[in-house]
Amino acid sequence: MHEIKESFDVKLAEDEKYYVPDEKYRRTSWIGDYQRRYDEFLADPDAFWNDIAEELDWVRHWDRVLEWNYPYAKWFVNARLNITSNCLDRHVASDRRNKAALIWRGEDGTERVYTYQKLLTEVIHFANGLKKVGVSKGDRVCIYMPMVPEQAIAMLACARIGAVHSVVFAGFGETALNMRITDAQAKIVITADISIRRGKAIPLITIVKEAILNAPSVEHLVILRRRREPPVEMRPDFELDFYELMRNGGADCPPEAMDAEDPLFMLYTSGSTGTPKGVVHTCGGYMVGTYYTSKYVFDLKENDIYWCTADPGWITGHSYIVYGPLIVGATVFISEMTLDYPDPGIWWRLIEEQRINIFYTAPTAIRTFMKLGEAWPEKYDLSSLRIIGSVGEPLNPEAFEWYYHVIGKDRCPIVDTWWQTETGMQMITTMVGEPMRPGFVGKGIPGVVADVVDKDGASVPLGSGGFLVIRTPWPAMFRTIYNNDERYRQYWETIPGVYTAGDLAVKGTDGYIMVIGRSDDIIIISGHNIGTAEVESALVSHQAVAEAAAIGKPDPLKGNSIKAFVILRVGNAPSEKLKKDLMYHVRMTIGPIAVPQEIAFVEKLPKTRSGKIMRRVLKAQEMGVDPGDISTLEE
Ligand code: WT7
Repeated sequence: MHEIKESFDVKLAEDEKYYVPDEKYRRTSWIGDYQRRYDEFLADPDAFWNDIAEELDWVRHWDRVLEWNYPYAKWFVNARLNITSNCLDRHVASDRRNKAALIWRGEDGTERVYTYQKLLTEVIHFANGLKKVGVSKGDRVCIYMPMVPEQAIAMLACARIGAVHSVVFAGFGETALNMRITDAQAKIVITADISIRRGKAIPLITIVKEAILNAPSVEHLVILRRRREPPVEMRPDFELDFYELMRNGGADCPPEAMDAEDPLFMLYTSGSTGTPKGVVHTCGGYMVGTYYTSKYVFDLKENDIYWCTADPGWITGHSYIVYGPLIVGATVFISEMTLDYPDPGIWWRLIEEQRINIFYTAPTAIRTFMKLGEAWPEKYDLSSLRIIGSVGEPLNPEAFEWYYHVIGKDRCPIVDTWWQTETGMQMITTMVGEPMRPGFVGKGIPGVVADVVDKDGASVPLGSGGFLVIRTPWPAMFRTIYNNDERYRQYWETIPGVYTAGDLAVKGTDGYIMVIGRSDDIIIISGHNIGTAEVESALVSHQAVAEAAAIGKPDPLKGNSIKAFVILRVGNAPSEKLKKDLMYHVRMTIGPIAVPQEIAFVEKLPKTRSGKIMRRVLKAQEMGVDPGDISTLEE
C-alpha cells in the first residue's frame, strides 16, 4: 500500500544547465520532433496506439484499442496474438532470419550466438518439452536461473504455449524463493545447478531444493546442468535435464493464440508489507508498450548492437533484454560478467570488442565506475556508442556528467528512463534529440501523461514538488496483483483518479521532472527494490530478535543502504558476533541485496499509539534532522 506522507516544499536551485545533442539525432531518430509526436498522441490517444500496434503481427485484430473502466483497462479488446510470433517468427520470415538475435558472453569467456532462426528452434523444442511434462496455458512456471541464454529461452518457451512465467532473480535466498513459488502455485521450477560470479560457482540447486520443501505445487524441477564434472545427480521422474527435455521436444510448436488480456507473466516486487507483490502483465498491451519504447526510446536501428546490463530476473531484463528488443528485431548482447571481474575495465572492453551502439545500465554501476577512475574506460575505444541509458534510481547530476563526458564523450544522448515493475515499460525520459538536463529524467514520453501532484491530485505549479503520478492508462500497465486485486486498486485510489507511483518528484520550471526517491516504505538499493517490512520480517524470524525496524540511509554508491534497529529477546546479549549472524540470516532468507549495512541494538522503537513503528522518526534521528509531526508518537 502506498502511504502518502506529508507534502513537502522544495527549494530547488534552478540552474538552467542543458546539454543539447547534435541536431542529427533529432533528424534521424524514429521519434523525430518530440513535441509534435506528443501533441499527436494527445489529440487522439487511441489512434496513436492503434498505429503502433498495426506494425506488429496479430492472429485476430482488436475491436477497440482501449476499454477503460477505472481502474481496470483492457487494451486491444478481443485481439489474439502470441508475443513470440513477434519476437521470433516475424523475423524468421524476413531478411532478419540469419541475423544475430542474442550474443551471449559467459564469465569464462565462452561466447554463443543465436540467430533468430536458431533461437526460434530452441524455443520451440523447449516449449514442446514443457508440454510433455504437463505444462499448459495458464500454468505458472517459476524460472530461477543465472544470466544464460537458456533463461531467455525458458521465458519465451512459456510465452509460446501460454504458460505464465514468474522469473525470480537468482540472487534471492530460499525463503524469498519459496514465497514466490507458493504464492504463484508454480507447477514447474526451471533452474541451473550453479551460477558463476567472479570466478566462483554458486550452487543454485541447493537453494532451490530448500525452497521447494514446503511448496507442494511443484511437480518437476528442470535443471540446466552447467557443471560437467561431476554433473549433479538427478532424482528420477522429479528432476529433468534442461537439454534432455528439449531434445524430446519435437520441431513443431504453433504459437498459442492468446487473448490480448491473457496473462503473459508475473514478476514479484517488494511492497510495504512483508509479502512481495506478484505484478501481473498481459500479452497484448505489454507487447505493444515494450515494442514502442524499445524502438523509440533507444532509437534502435537495423544494424545496432544493443547491450542492457540488467538481469532478466528484474523487469528491466524482461522488457529491455528479452521482449522489447526482440520484437523490434535487434541484436541483443547479454553478458554474465560482473562489472569489476576480472578487472574494472571488463564492461568497456566488451563495448570495444562487440562494437556496442546502445548501452543501458544503472546509476549504481555508473557511480561505482566513477570511484574506480577514468583510467579504466579510457583504455578502450568507446566510439561505437551512439546512445547511453540509465534506469533504476535517480541519476544524480554528478553521475550524469561523468557518464556524459567519460563514457558518452560529450556526444551520446543519455536516456535516463523512469519506470517501474508495475508500468512494464519506460514512461518518463528525455527522448533522443531533446535537450538534456542533469538531475532530471525529463517528461512523459508520447503516450504517457505523467504529472507531479499534491495529496488531492491537483498539479503542483512549475518549480515545486509533490507526488509522481500517471493520469491515463498505458498499454503495458500491470492489470492486477496476483491473488490480491485490492492491492492493485490501492495504486489507483491513493490519490483519486490517478496512478500513484510511490515516488516523490519535482516539476522544474521547464516541466522536466526530477525524481527524488520513494514516498513509501520501499528502499531502492543499487536500483533494486526492497521493502522495509521484508527486511524486518527476515530479522524477526531469527530466534534472538523480538522486534526490528529498517530504514534507508543515503549511500554514495548504492543510492541507499539499510540500517536496522533491533530489540533482542530476553536472554540475548548484543554482540558483534550477533550482528554478523543477523546479517547472514537476512542474506540467506532474502538475499545479499537486503542485508543491512548497519545494525543497532536498541531497547525501544518509536511507535504510534496504535503500535505502528514510526520509521520516519528513526530516519530523522539518524540524519540529524527535524522529524516533523510527532503528535502520534506514543510518549
Ligand atoms: C522504482 C521502481 C524500472 C526498472 C527498474 C526498477 C525508481 C526507476 C528511475 C529513474 C529515478 C527511478 C523509482 C521507481 N526508479 N527508474 N530513472 N530515476 N528513479 O524497477 O524495482 O519496480 O522500482 O525505481 O523509485 O518507483 P522497480
